[in-house]
Amino acid sequence: MEIKYNEQERTFFLSNGRISYVFGVEKDRYLMHLYFGRYIRNYRGISRPYFYDRGFCSNPLPEDREFSLDTLPREYPDMNQGDFRSPAYVIQTEDGRRVTRFYYKNYRIIQGKPELTGLPHIYTEEDQEAMTLCITLEDEIAEARILLYYTIFRDYDAVCRHVEVENTGKQELYLERLMSMSLDFPGTSYDVLTMTGGHINEKNINRRPLQSDAIVAESIRGCSSPQATPCIVLMEKEAGESRGEVWGANFVYSGDFQAVAQAGQYKSTRVQMGMNPLTFGWRLKEKERFTAPETVLVYSDKGLNGMSGTFHDLYRKRLCRGVYRDKVRPVLLNSWEAFEFQVNEEKCISLAKEAAKAGIELFVVDDGWFRNRSSDKRALGDWTEDKEKFPGGICRLSERIRKEGMEFGIWFEPEMVSPDSDLYRKHPDWIIRSPHYDPILSRYQYVLDLSNPAVCDYVIQAVSNILESAEITYVKWDMNRHITDLGSLCLDGKSQKELSHRYMLGLYFILDTLNRRFPEVLFEGCSSGGGRYDAGMLYYMPQTWASDNSDAVCRLKIQYGTSILFPPVTMGAHVSVVPNLQVGRLTSIDTRFAVAMSGNLGYEMDLCSLPEEEKEEIKNQIAFYKSIREVIQKGRFYRLANPQEGNTAAWNFVSEDENTVIYCYFQILSEAVRVNVPVKLKGLREDSVYRLAQDGSCYGGDELMHAGVTSPPVLKDFVSHVYVFNRIQEFSCSDCEKH
Ligand code: DGJ
Repeated sequence: MEIKYNEQERTFFLSNGRISYVFGVEKDRYLMHLYFGRYIRNYRGISRPYFYDRGFCSNPLPEDREFSLDTLPREYPDMNQGDFRSPAYVIQTEDGRRVTRFYYKNYRIIQGKPELTGLPHIYTEEDQEAMTLCITLEDEIAEARILLYYTIFRDYDAVCRHVEVENTGKQELYLERLMSMSLDFPGTSYDVLTMTGGHINEKNINRRPLQSDAIVAESIRGCSSPQATPCIVLMEKEAGESRGEVWGANFVYSGDFQAVAQAGQYKSTRVQMGMNPLTFGWRLKEKERFTAPETVLVYSDKGLNGMSGTFHDLYRKRLCRGVYRDKVRPVLLNSWEAFEFQVNEEKCISLAKEAAKAGIELFVVDDGWFRNRSSDKRALGDWTEDKEKFPGGICRLSERIRKEGMEFGIWFEPEMVSPDSDLYRKHPDWIIRSPHYDPILSRYQYVLDLSNPAVCDYVIQAVSNILESAEITYVKWDMNRHITDLGSLCLDGKSQKELSHRYMLGLYFILDTLNRRFPEVLFEGCSSGGGRYDAGMLYYMPQTWASDNSDAVCRLKIQYGTSILFPPVTMGAHVSVVPNLQVGRLTSIDTRFAVAMSGNLGYEMDLCSLPEEEKEEIKNQIAFYKSIREVIQKGRFYRLANPQEGNTAAWNFVSEDENTVIYCYFQILSEAVRVNVPVKLKGLREDSVYRLAQDGSCYGGDELMHAGVTSPPVLKDFVSHVYVFNRIQEFSCSDCEKH
């Protein structure tokens, strides 16, 4: 890993032996992007662009008609200097003008990676793991600096970028737009991949060609949202799951965002990621500094699987934190689909007894446990026990659950308040709203104004009181509506556009405080399912409930899409009842299990009402999962067949030590025209021999990966096959030749 500055060529060269990122200083002032891709030893500049005198091009250097910012490949483009493509930043000076001139000033190389205070970020454990380049741009007239940070990692094929703005003068500046990264690629012949969706339909993969204008993915919902994921991937046309060049950008942030891929008039492509300028604005007073969230850029020449592998490793090891980062995750049972709001102590204990017999390790009481919470119409915000439902309180419930041999966990939705609650009656001014209109309800609830420190303190205290009152080792942190009426009663008129980001800073502060206060608690994020399944949240909560849709077939698609960015260990996945509550589908317990065990396994059903054979089956499933969960949770994950496109889904996991392979194959619908299309496994050792645990037969890694595996035909819908292969030899042995 190295960062070099070539004095003569004025180029910065970041590389780790597998990827390189290069840019230079042009005309003493402007940053010019030169290369991001597969490792090159040196950059001498034969790919540098030529400049031409073109119509409508402005020339910032009067003597040079050929030089224009509108055609320059840029690192952090401005507005008002002749680059008419999407700007990375717009800063207003106190006189209301938005013309600035930030020029290259100097650079600094830092060993390691600086922290982003108050924001989630990729971290290092030792300085030797990474190097960071910090570039300073300066506008001497506006008296401000922009600092661009680039981190390259020894072990991951990623570059992290973030931006700071420093007001070095006396006037107040206003940040109108501040993207976290901007990158210009040569040519426009790319496909763009984004992820779209909705409630119970998260993470649909959406790939289409970039044409002559822009593709924008964004959220103004107050969170990253199920409708759009803060991610944009540029792919060469030929790239697919296993081959070709792809460049992925993922935002480490959970609030409103904008991701842009814009084709330029002279065949260049600009990609940007940052906070959404529609809901972002920031007053930067004298001597203040503002830090924008970070973007992770991943390059892969092994297609989407290669890109996902890098995101997975990086996020699992250097984004997720806490004791659960490296611990195996418990098999849990969640009370929601079994009881919804009608939970009580006796029902929970009966369910817990069955759960314990099945081998479940963690019992989670979901919504409905607190005072007055008989439906979703009331009580959010009043986080006190319901002594009618739980006469011994949460403390006795947790003790009784622990006596059954399980850990105990609990649900909260701390960012919200019901109008019918003591909290709202006492503090009607604590919600996000405009003073001029009645605030709009969603699921009968309002959003608390986390830009107000008093509200944050209340939330921290309310959650802490419960966590301190009993032995609780797990929290499900829910968020079930989006933000309307974007106004704060505690911010002055001029600062209202700061609210969205201040909300996120408040939330991150709350989560950070709770993480520190309760280091042994495993937090799982949720927003009506995977509505806030993003890299920002994973910094505080190492797992997320992937969707409120627990149907196995829908989940195949959702989990497949989720895996584009996030590793299976972060994915909450539960076996639920049939007919499924969201879609009414009947699927076998085997298939439901095969889908749920491909993430963090849980159950969400009334086990007491199941026939004995099914209980026995669940017990066997859990025992099996425990025997292989290290492979699922810590291994490498490879997508093999896409259920969002066809009738089959397939993926395989390879353990960290490469000795175990779990291969899952799903046939969605039974078809009259039956076909034999082997699925080629990935990530195995070609020269090794693997024994199939189910029948002892042996196969070379080369055969499994190149000839593939054909699954036996079954005349049924929603069929699953799970294969476990154990590596037994480096090369074929006489014993194996028999098979
Ligand atoms: C939405 C979540 O996604 C569900 O799992 C459940 O916790 C409900 N909220 C409870 O209100």
